[in-house]
Amino acid sequence: MKARVFSGVQPSGNLHIGNYLGALSNWVTIQYDYDSIFCIVDLHAVTIHQPPEELRAKIEEIAALFLAAGIDPKHSSIMVQSAVAAHAELAWMLTCVTPVGWLERMTQYKGKAAGQQTIGDGLLQYPVLMAADILLYQAAIVPVGEDQAQHLELTRDIAQRFNSLYGETFVMPQTSLPSVGARVMGLDDPTIKMSKSAAGSGHAVALLDPPDRVRKNIMRATTDSNPAVTFESPSPGVENLLSIFQAFSGWTQQQMCSHFAGMRYGDLKNQVAEMVISHLEPFQKRYREITSEPGYVARVLLEGAERVRPIADSTVDLVKRRMGLYTESR
Ligand code: TYM
Repeated sequence: MKARVFSGVQPSGNLHIGNYLGALSNWVTIQYDYDSIFCIVDLHAVTIHQPPEELRAKIEEIAALFLAAGIDPKHSSIMVQSAVAAHAELAWMLTCVTPVGWLERMTQYKGKAAGQQTIGDGLLQYPVLMAADILLYQAAIVPVGEDQAQHLELTRDIAQRFNSLYGETFVMPQTSLPSVGARVMGLDDPTIKMSKSAAGSGHAVALLDPPDRVRKNIMRATTDSNPAVTFESPSPGVENLLSIFQAFSGWTQQQMCSHFAGMRYGDLKNQVAEMVISHLEPFQKRYREITSEPGYVARVLLEGAERVRPIADSTVDLVKRRMGLYTESR
């Protein structure tokens, strides 16, 4: 039996090249080596208010983006978190073994909670639900971008705590980060990571942006006051552009150095823009084909949920038995 891979994306905001390079492209590469499950985590999205109509549309949009990126629904399961009730059920059980202090230390929680007058409980519980997503399927590998590494460490801590309290139950999941592109930074401000929610049209390259917008935003990217590329401590803006190029092209560091060293920033930006556009154009074409077939995406999601539900239910059953909760199958 193949080991299992699990990963997810929140259906909020517009998916960008950071999500693609940090997560999706890695999923596509490794999917056939594992029993793969890719999830649209709508219960996570509602930790921040989402207009219901928009959320619903976003879920199918993200599923279509997974397909356009090359996730093969015949092999991999693409599913929506709220369609499998066991995610929320296991999250509660894990909440009961998780100290609040562990959750209050999470960097993303602190960032999202800062400046809010009232903090929804869901925001604090967010990483427990994420742990439930992963542990529910006994996933061995979780391919994510670097910003999720801390949540993965917490997942292992929760699993370990549960296992030591109730006996071996959960597989310990490993974090899988891409070697290049694990943390794509904002084009307008390369000191913060590219984010779906950050305002400002010059911040991100969305996967569905038309080529002229992609070009405009990359040409306007923040660099520094030097005239040309140097590989000795490049500024964050230049480093970001170089790593975007490298992640899309698959070039080695040596190829990068010999091609770009001494190149003027204007030329660098032009080449990065062309590289990104050459990948996004066929991707967007596939997206249009996928979304032009009525009912196709909904069918993929239904099949995905049906395929994973028995795995999820059997883990919940095991956890219930371990904890002494009432089950019919004793
Ligand atoms: P989300 O929706 O914020 O991001 C989806 C994936 O994209 C990666 N990512 C990035 N990678 C590189 N550079 C960036 N600037 C960048 N921004 C985002 C993220 O690391 C992620 O892999 N909590 C998760 C969703 C989730 C999940 C899970 C993931 C819920 N349950 C279980 C894995 C396993 C999140 O908000 O990702």
